[in-house]
Amino acid sequence: MGLAGRLRLPADKSVSHRTALLAALAEGPSEIVGFSDAADPQSTLACLRSLGIQIKEHEDSLIIHGRGPRGFTSPTGALDCGNSGTTMRLLSGVLAGQSFDSTLTGDASLSRRPMGRIAEPLRRMGARIDLTDGHAPVRITGGTLRGIEYELPVASAQVKSCVLLAGLLAGGSTTVIESVPSRDHTERMLGLDTMEIGGQRYITIEGGRAVKAQPWIVPRDFSAAAFFLVAGAIVAHSHIEMRSVGLNPSRSALLDLLRAMGANITVGNERTRGHEPLADLTVQNEGGRLHGITVGGTLIPNLIDEIPVLAVAAAYAEGRTEIRDAEELRHKETDRIAATAAFLRTMGAEVMELDDGLVIEGQPMLKGATVESEGDHRIAMAAAIAALAAEGETTIRDADCVAVSFPAFWDELAALAGS
Ligand code: S3P
Repeated sequence: MGLAGRLRLPADKSVSHRTALLAALAEGPSEIVGFSDAADPQSTLACLRSLGIQIKEHEDSLIIHGRGPRGFTSPTGALDCGNSGTTMRLLSGVLAGQSFDSTLTGDASLSRRPMGRIAEPLRRMGARIDLTDGHAPVRITGGTLRGIEYELPVASAQVKSCVLLAGLLAGGSTTVIESVPSRDHTERMLGLDTMEIGGQRYITIEGGRAVKAQPWIVPRDFSAAAFFLVAGAIVAHSHIEMRSVGLNPSRSALLDLLRAMGANITVGNERTRGHEPLADLTVQNEGGRLHGITVGGTLIPNLIDEIPVLAVAAAYAEGRTEIRDAEELRHKETDRIAATAAFLRTMGAEVMELDDGLVIEGQPMLKGATVESEGDHRIAMAAAIAALAAEGETTIRDADCVAVSFPAFWDELAALAGS
């Protein structure tokens, strides 16, 4: 029996964070419909509350009462970003330009992730940022910022957004230059000018520009859909439907990639809601196998969060898959190159770990095993998808970590499996 039914996906995590931050920076109330109930966006809300922002929760929406870019109040203690890199990096940009000092902390995983990449441009803008060996806690001495032109040394939407948000509070204009495109939610939502010159994107924000209080609608998360697109493609006789999935072209490359591997995915009812394109997706599988693929280069940031589950698709595909240029995966909630290789190998897959990726020889069947999520939500969910098509039982340790982005993951999976 395959997986069958309609899946209810969580709200987009990246968009949720940004709606909350922009609503807080605006003056007046903004309603956000469909805000994520996952732990990461909830960390952003908790931090905003500690900064004096009033947030009212209704059944399917939030009302955030923004107080303008300088309306935040000094927090009484450290701001706990939990597991959320997006909270820490984007909020640091906002806090660098305040008239008070703040400290951002995170859990053990977030405290291992690189923060020098935001400290460096913020310091160039005149901020004082203190880190411990390049890591959190991020200690910010609030002050006056000046606009800069900044060429991103890594393709990172979090760094880009941090600098753009700081630019909002800076004197003069700030331009971020990207040579490799990363997800563009921030510039879309702020309606920023972007220019393409010589293969690079220039994104400019004017300091002192007002953010409008406005209604926001959050699409369903493509990165959560990804697990079920792969599940539907590898579990024979599956038919899974997903509604209102965000299909922002800067982060939906997995869709085309899975199709190129032979997956049968249909995209219907394409529309734009607010600033983001969305569509309804159906994946079905009559019993055929996918085939291996080579992926790398500038496409990688477009599917960075989907690589663990792409590796699962590859492990069941015919032939070899090579994933290159993905060194950034080593700086996520875990070292996702190592964590993916580890659980796939434990399940009997043939995987070679490279410095910047993975080489996987596909096979028809993996075997159930006890595997480690290492507390990383995307590793736990990728391992669950691998387990669905495997022979025998799989135990995933620390499986509750899915709550970081997809609290209902296990329930949705059980419903699709008819169990
Ligand atoms: C995110 C950007 C990506 C992604 C993360 C969310 C965002 O990180 O991996 O899950 O919301 O901006 P980087 O921009 O650091 O690669």
